[in-house]
Amino acid sequence: MPHEADYDNLHLPSHIGIIMDGNGRWARQRNMIRTQGHLEGLKTAKKMVKAASDMGISYLSLYVFSTENWKRTADEVGFIMGLVKTHLRGEFDFYRENHIRIRHTGDPAGLPAEIAGELIKVCEDTRNFQGLTVVLALNYGGRDEIVRAVRRLTAKDGGEITEETIRRHLDNPDIPDPDLIIRTGGEFRTSNFLLWESAYAEYIISPKLWPDWTEDDLKSAIYEYQGRERKFGGIPV
Ligand code: IPE
Ligand code: IPE
Ligand code: MG
Repeated sequence: MPHEADYDNLHLPSHIGIIMDGNGRWARQRNMIRTQGHLEGLKTAKKMVKAASDMGISYLSLYVFSTENWKRTADEVGFIMGLVKTHLRGEFDFYRENHIRIRHTGDPAGLPAEIAGELIKVCEDTRNFQGLTVVLALNYGGRDEIVRAVRRLTAKDGGEITEETIRRHLDNPDIPDPDLIIRTGGEFRTSNFLLWESAYAEYIISPKLWPDWTEDDLKSAIYEYQGRERKFGGIPV
């Protein structure tokens, strides 16, 4: 079994993405309503941001709400949006103290105006912080991101379509591709997360539900990642 204490802090993945899944099941196991799971999940997210920041990770992308999650009940969607808004408004001191820079990926046009406004503000207020960059995937779909990129590209005169020009029109072209993508909650699928960017990411699926995830689980995942051989289609020398 990989042991968290053994991870090598000199060869960290530069960018980790997390599909934070399992909030609803966590609540159900405790006979609670699903929204309690989201409340607990937010606490875990904050703990993981602090842990990644303390470990010296450069980029952490968190899948908060997908373009497909609008299919859920109005109550659940409203609750999640409320949590996001409160969090964005209330955590500036936490970001400042830890030098955390916030970025967004996803379509702001599909978000409630208030949330889109808070996102723009927090990205602006934290843009000069030099520590961990946290990318919030909110109203995010990998296919949607690619479609929006191609639209932006073809709206320009003579926008030649190549991998490089599409890449440059994605939401955060200055951020390197994820090295490691973790999915909690045990499902073996991407659910439309970072489709373009994850072409050569290493995947780790954890059976643990997101609210149960801990800093040691993150360290174990990094340790497991460090044992993988990344070949990028080539032949190892
Ligand atoms: C992930 O947890 C959070 C969001 C998708 C917003 P879920 O709410 O999907 O939890 P499960 O998969 O139903 O347990
Ligand atoms: C993926 O989880 C989206 C987020 C974690 C925000 P889902 O729970 O929406 O994914 P599916 O429905 O199981 O594929
Ligand atoms: Mg789920």
